[in-house]
Amino acid sequence: MIIPEVISNEAGLKTLFRADINETYHSIHGAAAESLHVFIEAGLQHWISQNKSQQVQILEVGFGTGLNAMLSLISAQDLQIKINYCAYETIPLPFALVNSLNYAVNWPSSFNNLFEEMHANNWNQWQHLTPHFSLLKLQESILLAEPKQTFDLIYFDAFAPDKQSELWTIDLFKKLYSCLNPGGVLVSYTAKGQVRRNLLEAGFRVERIAGPPRKRHMVRASKLPKP
Ligand SMILES: C[S@@+](CC[C@H](N)C(=O)[O-])C[C@H]1O[C@@H](n2cnc3c(N)ncnc32)[C@H](O)[C@@H]1O
Repeated sequence: MIIPEVISNEAGLKTLFRADINETYHSIHGAAAESLHVFIEAGLQHWISQNKSQQVQILEVGFGTGLNAMLSLISAQDLQIKINYCAYETIPLPFALVNSLNYAVNWPSSFNNLFEEMHANNWNQWQHLTPHFSLLKLQESILLAEPKQTFDLIYFDAFAPDKQSELWTIDLFKKLYSCLNPGGVLVSYTAKGQVRRNLLEAGFRVERIAGPPRKRHMVRASKLPKP
């Protein structure tokens, strides 16, 4: 069984590290800052500004620690919108390990029970965590998945392309494009040339935009809205 280890930077900010692939779960410079920039601001807030909708269907590739899901839950409440969040994951993590990362410093303590519930609740069934946020965690590889619904926003948070090249392919991006609604958006933390070329080949319109702290760029890819 693969159990990642906890590592800290010089400021005491923590993330998980997979020694077998020599890869961290988040930026070593701050998990929450990266997640907020890439997924919440460049993804969720951008999509809402373009679509003016009160309901968002989100697909996440790599639930991991649940940090992106938790920040989305909080945003849903702040923005008074409804998010249905479907997350794929192959290696579920024990809550004790996730909790030791101290991500709870990033939100009011009144949300802590929800973070625990998010992890404790069953896989493969919808959990209605708040009136604004429902979660479906699917313990399945995105490579084998055949999503039964369509989405507005995709958080593509797989391990880096040089560590997990099988996830950054034209084929997988084509599958994700086909389950995206018109006007839908995919965001990810890397803007590597090959990733952008594969997204383009899969049909997306691709932008390289400002990245999170200490990273120049990230990618935002969109499916054109209906004319
Ligand atoms: C970079 S980490 C990001 C985790 C997460 N978004 C978070 O905030 O903690 C990548 C995650 O993708 C998961 N993963 C790897 N291969 C996968 C696959 N084929 N399908 C779904 N998830 C996968 C990993 O187990 C890991 O949890």
